[in-house]
Parts: sequence; C-alpha cells; structure tokens
Amino acid sequence: MFFSVPIVAASLIAAAHGTPITAVSPRQDAAAPQAFEILRPYSGKPSERPPSYQYCGIAFNVTDPVSNLTTRCSGEHGPCAKSSSEPAKPERLLDAAHPGACADARFSFWLDSFRGIEDYSLAVRFVEDGSGSGSEVSQEYGVEQVRVGVTPRINRENFPDSWRYQCGGSNFCTSIVDRVEAPFVEE
Ligand SMILES: *[C@@H]1O[C@H](CO)[C@@H](O)[C@H](O)[C@H]1NC(C)=O
Ligand SMILES: *[C@@H]1O[C@H](CO)[C@@H](O)[C@H](O)[C@H]1NC(C)=O
Repeated sequence: MFFSVPIVAASLIAAAHGTPITAVSPRQDAAAPQAFEILRPYSGKPSERPPSYQYCGIAFNVTDPVSNLTTRCSGEHGPCAKSSSEPAKPERLLDAAHPGACADARFSFWLDSFRGIEDYSLAVRFVEDGSGSGSEVSQEYGVEQVRVGVTPRINRENFPDSWRYQCGGSNFCTSIVDRVEAPFVEE
C-alpha cells in the first residue's frame, strides 16, 4: 500500500476519534488509465521514381495517461519503396531492438507489425526513471516505471470512420487516422 505519511497520520487521528474514514482511497482504487493515446498517426511511402528516397516514415503524437506527458515521435524504416533501376539503400529497422525516438526521450516506439503503410501497428514504450517530472508515485519512491502499449492494426477495417489513404501524383502515399489507443501490455 502506498499511503504517504500525512494520510496515515490523518487516518490514525480519525480512528482515534472514532470518525468514519471515507476519504482515504489508495491510488490503486482509482480507475487506472490503461492505454497510451496516439493522435494522428501518419504513415508515408515515398515515390518509387528515381532518385527514390526509399524509406517509409511514421509520425504521431502520444500521451502517457499516467504521467499525462505528451510528446511527438517520428522515424523511418525500409527501404520500402524504390525504383528497380537503383540499388537498395542501407536497411533501417524500426523494431523493438531498434526503436524510433520521440522528442521526450522517455518515450520510444517501433513497428509491432507492418504489412504496408495501409496496415501496420505501433508499440510505444515509456520509461519513468523516478527523477523527472513524471507521476507522483515514481517521484515519491524513486522507482523506474516502464510501460509498453501496442495498438491494434491501423487499417481501414479497424478505423473506418477516420481512415484516410491518399496517393499524390508522384505516387507518394500517406495513411492517417485520427486517434488510436495502445493498451498496456506485459513487457
Ligand atoms: C503534435 O505535437 C506537435 C508538437 O508538440 C504539435 O505542434 C501538434 O499540434 C500536435 N498535433 C496533434 C494532432 O495533437
Ligand atoms: C493533461 O495535460 C493537459 C495539457 O497538457 C491538460 O489540459 C489536462 O488537464 C491534463 N490532464 C490531467 C488529468 O492532468
């Protein structure tokens, strides 16, 4: 139980006076948020015309519900689109062993699955080291907290209302949805 000292003291005083204790509710009793919120995840595939850029891109904003911190994440992976007349550029992985960066370094992310920019899923990882401006719990106890969340597949079938897939004249394609949750998973 994570009672802080003042609450315990107040409880003892209340108990001593025979007063019913109603306001002492441990943090765990609150409906704890269980998912990262991802806003406007963007997935882009460059043109295959030479000179082709070759790397696909991912970008989104994410909020950790426990600390209420928000940051922007982006990364590249591939080659995932190239002209047949060009050699492939060096591989850039975006997996759990090679995560992408976020503006707030406590966050990182990777592709949990990728069948194309029109069907992929994201994993987000948040590490709270107990020294920063994170949640009160970690500040108070100085413990490292790690949360990982994984989205469902981000595709037309799962997000029919906000799904937008577009290809420009140069065959640069993008897919965007409005909002996706990444429920916490056991690491
Ligand atoms: C995402 O974050 C950036 C930078 O913090 C901000 O400018 C932008 O408005 C945010 N977009 C959304 C959809 O929240
Ligand atoms: C989370 O932060 C946003 C601004 O960044 C604020 O508007 C909102 O009230 C905060 N929510 C909680 C539960 O603290």
